[in-house]
Amino acid sequence: MMLDDVIRKELISKAYEARTNSYAPYSDYQVGAALLCEDGSVYSGCNVENASYGATNCAERTAVFKAVSEGKRRFKAIAIAGGSGDNMGMAYPCGVCRQVLREFSEPSEMRIVVAGKDFEYREFSLEELLPESFGPDFKDI
Ligand code: THU
Repeated sequence: MMLDDVIRKELISKAYEARTNSYAPYSDYQVGAALLCEDGSVYSGCNVENASYGATNCAERTAVFKAVSEGKRRFKAIAIAGGSGDNMGMAYPCGVCRQVLREFSEPSEMRIVVAGKDFEYREFSLEELLPESFGPDFKDI
């Protein structure tokens, strides 16, 4: 089911706001994310780059790790906003972030909102972006 319009807009706003804290001196590609937890709380994150490039953390994972470290383990939606400076495009979550989101959400229900400029967006389920996924429910096999 598509997200409620008010909630989607709030998440996109928070992703824009988090993006202003992006530390991306190497790529000059700033990303912000806002993650909605099952209890209604929202955690935001930005990408944090490093001189040793591989140590970079994406905005989505920053938000997830903030939430999990505060005791939240079930997520309902995430909005992502990215681009270089004013040149906002559609920042689709990378494969690693999709897998990390998978750990804490139901793929058919988790909503992923990819935002561009001026609240433009595309919305997907995690299942659409990560079909036939491997998750924590497989760990007992
Ligand atoms: N990045 C994110 O934070 N999220 C995405 O969905 C795509 C990529 C970051 C990582 C790196 O700091 C920069 O964008 C360029 O890849």
